[in-house]
Amino acid sequence: MKLRLGFLASHGGSNVQAILDACREGRLDAEPCVVISNNSDAMVLDRAMAARVPAFHLSSHIHPDPARLDEAILAVLEKHRVNLIVLAGYMKKLGPKTLARYRGRVLNIHPALLPKFGGKGMYGHHVHEAVLAAGEKESGATVHIADEEYDRGRILAHKKVPVKAGDTPDSLAERVLEVEHQLYAETLQRIASGDIKLEGL
Ligand code: GRF
Repeated sequence: MKLRLGFLASHGGSNVQAILDACREGRLDAEPCVVISNNSDAMVLDRAMAARVPAFHLSSHIHPDPARLDEAILAVLEKHRVNLIVLAGYMKKLGPKTLARYRGRVLNIHPALLPKFGGKGMYGHHVHEAVLAAGEKESGATVHIADEEYDRGRILAHKKVPVKAGDTPDSLAERVLEVEHQLYAETLQRIASGDIKLEGL
């Protein structure tokens, strides 16, 4: 079954861009179908429009009732016949209806080597600060299945980077982000090729 990707992202969307590029260049056999952001100013919406992918702003400003927001997100994903959700820097939790409908078919990328350095509050610079504070020799990125718990679902793939002497959270974040871009597209291609099997696909 051809992968039909629905992205949710809150900010810049460099991971979304890397996946859009991989699809365009034929490195990833998947169809980017829709991009949803909770942030109307997010650059990811501009990236989507530039790539002619339908883009929507759906947030608690538009739907203050969380149940309505959940239904609105699910309706957009279903309308665009999405069969795999790609979270890429999405700072909100998916609602119960969307999670139930796409159980096992929601991917997330985390900027550390899960199961270490994950969980509530572990996002952005907090992750890299914790890795440096722990004196780790390596960090990296993890693609995993997302469910109700933060960063707890099945781990699909890792890519490592070294932690270097004199690293700051910024320098480490930059090194990790570079491998995130490779890892996300590669992992999606392994799903597309059947090398990684997901329930319901
Ligand atoms: C990435 O570091 C990702 O691991 C985390 O959020 C960041 C998103 O970056 N979940 P971008 O918006 O894709 O540039």
